Amino acid sequence: MDLGINGKVAIVTGSGQGIGRDTALALAEEGVKVCINDVNDELGNETAEDIRKAGGTAIYVHGDIGAEADIKELFARTAKELGTVDILVNNAAISPKVPFEEIPAEQFEKVLKVNLLGAFLCSQQAFYQMKEKRWGRIISLSSMAGRFGANKAGVHYSSSKAGIIGMTLSLAKKMGPYNITVNCVAPGRINTALTKVLPQEVQDQIRSQIPLGRIGEPSEVASVITFLASEKAGYVSGACVDILGGYIA
Ligand SMILES: NC(=O)c1ccc[n+]([C@@H]2O[C@H](COP(=O)([O-])OP(=O)(O)OC[C@H]3O[C@@H](n4cnc5c(N)ncnc54)[C@H](O)[C@@H]3O)[C@@H](O)[C@H]2O)c1
Repeated sequence: MDLGINGKVAIVTGSGQGIGRDTALALAEEGVKVCINDVNDELGNETAEDIRKAGGTAIYVHGDIGAEADIKELFARTAKELGTVDILVNNAAISPKVPFEEIPAEQFEKVLKVNLLGAFLCSQQAFYQMKEKRWGRIISLSSMAGRFGANKAGVHYSSSKAGIIGMTLSLAKKMGPYNITVNCVAPGRINTALTKVLPQEVQDQIRSQIPLGRIGEPSEVASVITFLASEKAGYVSGACVDILGGYIA
């Protein structure tokens, strides 16, 4: 199926590894020119290099999504080097595993700053560029923790991911008139660095609760995001797509 996004420009935040990396690779396979962003320069450069080796177009821009100046620079450099953005994937996030009684106010603020305020500021920058073209796709990463509350994740993380759902619904209303769709995805347990830190017995217990009997792969989230970014998903907006292996069934 031709997804109709060949030649578009995407920014994927936090795409040095995990779901962001696989999303960047999947978009590049569709002919999208991708700006890789991360705070980890080694990982970010590696993702961009892998895309170029496979014949795609990619640049790497260092930037902390918790810092507004870095976000402005990220969008300015992408516009200069690849063109104005068509597809934004708000993926960068942090998830400190701290019991709720012990979360200091500064840590709660930091999680919201990167995971929610960062996604908001990126969406705002994207809107300035997309509205001129009357075409755009914004896809943000929520989480099962945002939909149903935290199990192993922190309360601050869960709060930020619930905020992503509210923001998505509001932005879908504000941006719809400009032919910009805004959606989020809510993965359950996915096989990335965020999950690998959990002890084996916890991972086994999680697996036993999933009807599909396994933890999801980052590529299985990337393929849903790529579809939402495509021309084919032109009438999907304001949705939160669960990617849970049947967990809530
Ligand atoms: N892995 C899961 O089980 C799971 C489940 C639900 C939702 N999610 C969400 O999916 C997204 C990706 O998760 P993942 O598991 O691939 O994470 P990950 O930790 O493997 O990768 C996150 C990437 O973001 C980068 N990053 C961190 N802080 C940043 C910042 N301030 N600015 C720019 N980049 C930054 C990291 O360096 C890293 O490369 C996150 O939004 C996460 O909340 C993950």
